[in-house]
Amino acid sequence: MNDDLRVLALRLLERKPPPGPVLPPRVLAPGTLPALIKTLARPQTPPDPALLASLCLKYFYAYVHPDSLGTDVSLDALTHLAGQFARRRGGAPQLAGQGDLRRFLLHHGFALQMLVDLPKTVHLLTALLTLAVPGRQGGFLGLDLGAGTGILLLGQYLLARRAGCPAPTLVGFEHQPQVAGRADALLAALGLGRVRRADATRVGTFAGLPDGPVACVTNETLPSAGRRLYKEPFPAISAALYAALGPRLTATAFLPEAVWVSDRAGRNWLRLAPDNAFAGDGAGQDRPLRLAFMRDVELAGERIPVARVGEGLAGLLAAPWRESLCRRW
Ligand SMILES: C[S@@+](CC[C@H](N)C(=O)[O-])C[C@H]1O[C@@H](n2cnc3c(N)ncnc32)[C@H](O)[C@@H]1O
Repeated sequence: MNDDLRVLALRLLERKPPPGPVLPPRVLAPGTLPALIKTLARPQTPPDPALLASLCLKYFYAYVHPDSLGTDVSLDALTHLAGQFARRRGGAPQLAGQGDLRRFLLHHGFALQMLVDLPKTVHLLTALLTLAVPGRQGGFLGLDLGAGTGILLLGQYLLARRAGCPAPTLVGFEHQPQVAGRADALLAALGLGRVRRADATRVGTFAGLPDGPVACVTNETLPSAGRRLYKEPFPAISAALYAALGPRLTATAFLPEAVWVSDRAGRNWLRLAPDNAFAGDGAGQDRPLRLAFMRDVELAGERIPVARVGEGLAGLLAAPWRESLCRRW
């Protein structure tokens, strides 16, 4: 195929992104990303879903365009980037001549896809901000296992600050090198924490952390509803975490607080929680955990099927955008 034909063939795959703004305009909070973080770090600011959705979208923009950190990015610009992201595979007129950006969006697609599922990510952040953690006296060491863009570390930063801890120590582990590098640069630029490129299923990954109890662990390495656990590394990461740091996890707040799995027919259920090192209690467990089927999570004390996380928050995204951006589980 000659080059002209190739270009024409690729153009046939192009579609426009969904129409209209990505958020209903009333949802978007004004201000730069650092200003919004400062506002949400104050315990007096209610963790309103619209504020958290604005936070996620501005963080998404800063992850892709780090030079924008000091800018109050407009809804038009946020929508433009969301459209480029939604059409990263098939192409769109908005991506014409932007090969580097398109490659970036493709290489970081999995992590960004989690972040821009605003209903689910906002639900997770809301639940994170309800966790009981030590305040000013206790210090705060927080870990994010499978950090992706680092959005849950940002959530832990808000949790610690809102609890009265002025300078939490936050460390994420992420095994995709390009994602770890980008998340680390952004969190470091914001002065919030660091992300290390590492495999969190290895006990050695947890060596060299600061001493003392771990205040909070976030671990969203879970498959979709009805898929077997081995599709994602949650059991292996939990095993490595407890082998490395077990005695330091007795008072730790976890997100999710617990995970429910079952056999295919839904007859035998297991609750994976801190009291069993997220490995189940052994009772009725006749098959390896990794063969169990993913079902529910506990968030803010409530047990919810994973597919229904974020259900009440769909209105944070404008209706035409929901199908292309809601892909976390
Ligand atoms: C479902 S995403 C969640 C990302 C982020 N925590 C969030 O909530 O948006 C899981 C992340 O874990 C990373 N991951 C998977 N296996 C890992 C491992 N063994 N060690 C470190 N990171 C891993 C993936 O690359 C991915 O970025």
